Order: sequence, then structure tokens, then C-alpha cells
Amino acid sequence: MEGLIVNGFSRLSKEDRINWLVKNFTNNSLKTKEILSQYWLDNKELQKLHDEFSENTISNFFLPWGIAPNFLIDGEMYALPMVTEESSVVAASANAAKFWLNKGGFSTQVLGTTKLGHIHFFYKGNKEKFTNWFQNFLKIKLEDATAEITQNMRSRGGGITSIILQDNTAKLEGYYFIEVSFDTRDSMGANFINSCLEEMAKILKEEMNQSESFQSNEKESLQVTMSILSNYVPDCRVRAEVCCEVDELDVKVMSPYEFAIKFKQAIDIATVETFRATTHNKGIMNGIDAVVIATGNDFRAVEACAHAYASRSGQYRGLTNCSIEDNIFRFWLEIPLALGVVGGLTKLHPLVRASLEILKNPTSEKLMKIVAVSGLAQNFAAIRSLITTGIQKGHMKMHLLNILNQLGATNSEKELLSNLFKDQIVSHHRVVKEFNKLRRNS
Ligand code: MEV
Repeated sequence: MEGLIVNGFSRLSKEDRINWLVKNFTNNSLKTKEILSQYWLDNKELQKLHDEFSENTISNFFLPWGIAPNFLIDGEMYALPMVTEESSVVAASANAAKFWLNKGGFSTQVLGTTKLGHIHFFYKGNKEKFTNWFQNFLKIKLEDATAEITQNMRSRGGGITSIILQDNTAKLEGYYFIEVSFDTRDSMGANFINSCLEEMAKILKEEMNQSESFQSNEKESLQVTMSILSNYVPDCRVRAEVCCEVDELDVKVMSPYEFAIKFKQAIDIATVETFRATTHNKGIMNGIDAVVIATGNDFRAVEACAHAYASRSGQYRGLTNCSIEDNIFRFWLEIPLALGVVGGLTKLHPLVRASLEILKNPTSEKLMKIVAVSGLAQNFAAIRSLITTGIQKGHMKMHLLNILNQLGATNSEKELLSNLFKDQIVSHHRVVKEFNKLRRNS
């Protein structure tokens, strides 16, 4: 154990952290040191900025930052910045964008922007008394107590929009929450919401203690467990849609009608079958997360919310829908998305600033629309592949390229081997074999 436990790691210099790490947790110290340091930025200022995004940093972890062009969204052209390590995601987006470009593109609608937070507490006294006290007295106090924190947000047109008491005692003895609804304008609002809630929790305890309406055992029974925003925001929701006449579904390998029917079958399967719904939604999130990350938003929050929403009926279901009526093919996604374009990383990270600029510095509502479109496009591309050529064809092309890059293939070698593997299964072993053969013969 000696050496494996460290005190004050965060106070060590970056070099010392690495030295400690490679000495105690790696065999090939020099190699690991080299790997970690080769990702440091030459620009010291910029490196410092990245170091300070998190704690105990020792290197940078780069992900590809790509562009999916040709998105027509509500009549305007966009190029989507996407950060993803998964080969074929950006290409799939770009293909879907192109497919819908001459069919009217994507249309969107924000269905709500309400964010939520809760004070979770236990109270074992008289229920009716507490409810009346909350309605007639506490609610106003809670609002007043947060007036200072909400001042700026209110001046921007946002703030607290409602405060309600929820009796949850049927689920858990003595358990209630106060639910606060927020309009956080262009920010994701996590800090703002949590500050308001913590202040409110303090007031709840103080006012209860001072109140003459409650007996001492009732006062003592009040226990605030926690105050925190909810990442489940079903009313902060957006819809993205594409539609066209069935005859316009030009996919080459089958008739437009056959394609429309098979496509709807795939969506219906994801609606009723959780095994498929999980993979289906994972594909949607491939598109969503990539833009969420590129714009400096919290993809874990977005993921958690999407999957909770997918389970809202009591069964986990696919998030997209499809209809074919009067020869019109319609395909849409409705998803809650809590996003911000101010605060957090948005001002700090130069690439996030660049992403937002490329997206024409959107409001948070506009960003919700763009991100939903990215999810819908990605799902369209995945389903189109799955019901026509199969998913492996596109994936294999990227897989081959990755292997050839690892082998250090030149452009002409890549071209020759790509042609050779056009209609063949790509395996690492076979690519290495063909590559070596090519090199031997040249
Ligand atoms: C792969 O990352 C995503 C897909 O599996 C999604 C899907 O099956 O719909 C292709």
C-alpha cells in the first residue's frame, strides 16, 4: 500500500502528479509520461484555462470536433458542430441533412422551457395545518427570501414561475417536496436554481421554528433532506419534424412506399419493445450529445432526462414517432432538453464559443431546436441504414480507415484497399494481411 495513498494530490504541480502516478500505477513510466505530456498545449495560457476546468488535471483528452453541413432548419441553413469519437455519426448526420434539404428540411417548435427544482423534506405533524401554512404564509416568504438572488434573472424576463407543495406521503412516510418552477432564459440555470432552493430550504426551517402554529414535536419532525434541481424537465421540451410525400422518399434500393412502411415498422418496434428502444434512443443521443458537447452543455443531464422521458408511460420506449397518412410521410422527435448558451463553459471554452458562433449565436430555445434536429437526423440515418443496406456497410468503411490509419497507410494505399474491401467483410486480421501484401509487392 505504501505510495498508493497520497495526501494533498491537488496541491502537487502537474509534473509531480504525473511522477507520483506513473511511479505507483504504471509499469512503463517513461512511455506514459510521454503520452500524457504530448497532449499538452504549447500555448501556456490556453493550457492553464483547460487545467482549471477541473481538478487534478494532468493532460487533455481530445475528441474529434467535426461539422455536419447542409441542415435546413425552419428555412435557415446551418452547419452543425459535432464532438464525437464514434466514426460514422457525423457522416450519418450530413447524409440525413442532404436527404431532407430538397424536401423542405426540418421544422421545429419549442413546447415549453420550464426548469424544476425541489426541496425534499420529511414532516410528521398535522398535514392539513402544514398545507394551509404553506399556502397562506410560507410561499410568499420563500419568494421574498429569493428576491435578491432572482433579481438579475427577473430583469432578463425569467425567475421563479411557481412554488407548489407535493404530498408524497403515500410513497414514503412523512415525505413531501416543495417544487419550484423556473424560467432561466438563456442559461441552463443549474447554479441559479440550486442557490434559490438552498435559500428557500433555510427559510422553511427558520419559519417553522419561529411559527406559533406548530407544536414542538411537529417542529422537530421537520427534516430537510436535500435541495436540488431536477434534471427531469418534461416541460422544457422541443419537437423536430420532417415530412414529405411518400413518393419523394428516394432511397434507390427499394420503392418509396416499401421504404416508408419499413421505416414506420422500425419506429413502431422501438415504441413497443424496450430492447430495441434502448438502441434506438442511443442512436438519437449520438446526434444530440455531439452538439450538446460541442456547445459546452451538460450531456449527462441531457441523457438522464431523455431516458426518464422515454420511460414516462411506465415502459421505456423509443423517442421518435412516424406516421403515413394521405400519402404523407411524417417523422418526428419530441424530447426535453435543458440547454444554455450563457454561463458555464460557454464563455470560457474557445471551441464552445466557436461552436456557438457557427450556430449563429443562438438563444437557448434556438439551440434546443438545433439539438433536437441533430437527434432526429441521426435516428433517420440509422433507421435508413438498418432497413436497407444494414448498418455494417457504413461502419465498416470507417473501421477500415481507422485500421489503415493505425498501420500508417498512405493515401494511395488507402484508396487501393478501400476498393478491395468494398464488398468484403472488414476484419483487423484481413486488413493487416492485405496491407502487408500490398507493401511487399510495391
Ligand atoms: C450506433 O451507435 C447506433 C445505432 O445502433 C442506432 C440504432 O440502432 O438505431 C446504429
